[in-house]
Amino acid sequence: MRDEDLSQTLLGWYDRHSRVLPWRVPAGQADPYRVWLSEVMLQQTTVAAVKGYFKRFTDRWPTVEALAAAADADVMAEWAGLGYYARARNLLKCARSVVGDHGGRFPDTREGLLTLPGVGPYTASAIAAIAFERPATIVDGNVERVISRLRKVETPLPAAKAEITRLAEQITPVMRPGDYAQAIMDLGATVCTPRNPACGICPWMTPCIARAEGIQTTLPRKTPKAAKPVREGTVWLARRPDGAWLVEDRPARGLLGGMWGWPGTGWDGAGGDAPLSASWRDAGEVRHTFTHFHLVLAVRFADVPQGANPERGSFRTLTGRELPTVMRKALMLIQ
Ligand code: ADE
Repeated sequence: MRDEDLSQTLLGWYDRHSRVLPWRVPAGQADPYRVWLSEVMLQQTTVAAVKGYFKRFTDRWPTVEALAAAADADVMAEWAGLGYYARARNLLKCARSVVGDHGGRFPDTREGLLTLPGVGPYTASAIAAIAFERPATIVDGNVERVISRLRKVETPLPAAKAEITRLAEQITPVMRPGDYAQAIMDLGATVCTPRNPACGICPWMTPCIARAEGIQTTLPRKTPKAAKPVREGTVWLARRPDGAWLVEDRPARGLLGGMWGWPGTGWDGAGGDAPLSASWRDAGEVRHTFTHFHLVLAVRFADVPQGANPERGSFRTLTGRELPTVMRKALMLIQ
């Protein structure tokens, strides 16, 4: 099948089967702000997890101007639970740059978009294609899987990335590039899935080399990653009679930077004492996996008097939603 026929076939499939997603609108009507916000949220995060966050963000901050004017702490609290918190810090920087440096309008080319804080090659291509109908090629995990199967790329990832990008570029159409970008992501998410691809209903079943050879589930190959180390620490959860909890603002840089957290030790197990003296009891432990390590946190809990005077942190009334997931897990042990 010619490259042009491949893209036409996929676009025809998309016209019949595209997913209904809160940020998706007909081609030509896209709001760059909503496209940008959804793409930043969707990095490293599933569509199902993003839907509620996208709705809350756009209800609260309907425009890039509104987001740029938001208080940092409000945005971080609204992002809590989505993970990869550097994305939220960059989100604000980017919104402020669009408003301060670009008159409130997103640049409309891939190169222009790449100059924005936190906008890398993937996001720039996605916005250029979906918001501005530029024939930019996006390569995310879905596209890597689809293309490696279609063209039988046997080199393992991440080494295969350049080859896959080149092959993906050859198929990207000049017409409807935004729909095409979303179509190939939808194909990877709903049909060309990792373990059980639904080849029988795939619009690219016939041209797919991996499927013809019966090796589709073995692709893409991946170079095994090093096992993640386990790190350990302790957190102290202190609750006052009025229901407020002792939390501290984590340093702006580093893991969970700028988020609220429980006072605790470092995550090498070393250092750090309880933030105040109280009759601490053992509340169990929580486990959480970050990009580069597994974390096991011992959770200590105490009810403390209303006048308690901690050495660090401050008492706040919490819903739990404003905490990053690992900190929320610790709270769940007590409530
Ligand atoms: N994953 C990331 N961005 C997406 C989009 N625009 N459509 C579908 N899946 C996606």
